[in-house]
Amino acid sequence: LGPEGWVEGELARLRERHLDRRLTVSGGGGGRCRIEGREYLNFSSNDYLDLATDPAVVAAAMRETEAGGAGATASRLMAGNLACHEELERRLAALKGYPAALLFGSGYLANVGVVPALVGRHDRVFADRLVHASLIDGVTLSGARLQRFRHNDPGHLAELLRAAPAGGRRLVVTESVFSMDGDLAPLPALAAAAAGGDALFLVDEAHALGVFGPAGSGLVSEENLQGRVQIAMGTLSKALGSYGGFVACSTALRELLVSTARAFIFTTGLPPAAAGAALGSLDRLAADPDRGSRLLALAGAFRDALRAEGLDPAGSASQIVPVIVGDNEKALAVSRRLREAGVIAVAVRPPTVPAGTARLRFSVTLAHTREELLRTARLTREALEAEGVR
Ligand SMILES: Cc1ncc(COP(=O)(O)O)c(C=O)c1O
Repeated sequence: LGPEGWVEGELARLRERHLDRRLTVSGGGGGRCRIEGREYLNFSSNDYLDLATDPAVVAAAMRETEAGGAGATASRLMAGNLACHEELERRLAALKGYPAALLFGSGYLANVGVVPALVGRHDRVFADRLVHASLIDGVTLSGARLQRFRHNDPGHLAELLRAAPAGGRRLVVTESVFSMDGDLAPLPALAAAAAGGDALFLVDEAHALGVFGPAGSGLVSEENLQGRVQIAMGTLSKALGSYGGFVACSTALRELLVSTARAFIFTTGLPPAAAGAALGSLDRLAADPDRGSRLLALAGAFRDALRAEGLDPAGSASQIVPVIVGDNEKALAVSRRLREAGVIAVAVRPPTVPAGTARLRFSVTLAHTREELLRTARLTREALEAEGVR
């Protein structure tokens, strides 16, 4: 069979369980996409504020490319530290209400970089049961002991912190807006539990940035928790329509990360285009700070429309709206039917979500109209009925 003989067997097992994944080529920003010549309503993009194709944002990326070239050419610590990186870090820190910020190659790399810089083999990480894979991978790389608390349950977190043996550092991690359920973390109570248990608190704001908080600064700042959340992580890749990640933190912590975060040190600095686009998006957001509130109003209208069709948007309180199907194969079939009707809503399956909770995940964006949201709710009900799910 040769050294690759096992690959076909693995693929067959994935297919049997309807867990194989496929790539399709698509393009377009905001709420539309084009696949094989046909235009679809796109509910699977994270371009929440419709900025990825905004002419001013694209122009900012081009300006920065013309000034700085196509790539940063080296690690930030070698010769790849560009003026646009530092300007973007200053702007992100100011937006988030922190003294400093540090860019990473992506949100994934930010989490994989920062966790091992904070904790190691003799330490403990307390993570919400539903946190993103990048945080879990960061914990694995760190070698710290992982303990998971029940989703959005500060009482359980406090209990675990109390029961943990003394000694070593402690880190609590959660998301502020959960990527697959669209619900919000009870940040003040979690911050109190973390402080009571003498733990650092890291909040992943990947889906909150641009949407929640004053001028889109996120939920940590909406709750005024900068003093209790030592690390607010974010991404440039979703509402800001660009690519890259960052953490906002104290100047001392930034200094430490520059010297110890391997995912920062051993990789090339962000391309000027990515930094330029993010700066362009921050300008757009500053000029129109209500974009996030308008998006949340649209998402509320979508949830109402789903309920009017007899569907349950679960605990969603954000622009991310799930419709739980349960079975993997049924979720795929409903997603296929929606696609035939001109709507892209990807079926999210394990291991991205817990087993038995396969779902359609709708990301509402500012590019969607209320009429499109009503139509999509109706088409979703029809697709579920056609598959005998309800
Ligand atoms: C909660 C969360 N954290 C981190 C990431 C990673 O961000 P990025 O896409 O910038 O790598 C994502 C999304 O992919 C996410 O949903």
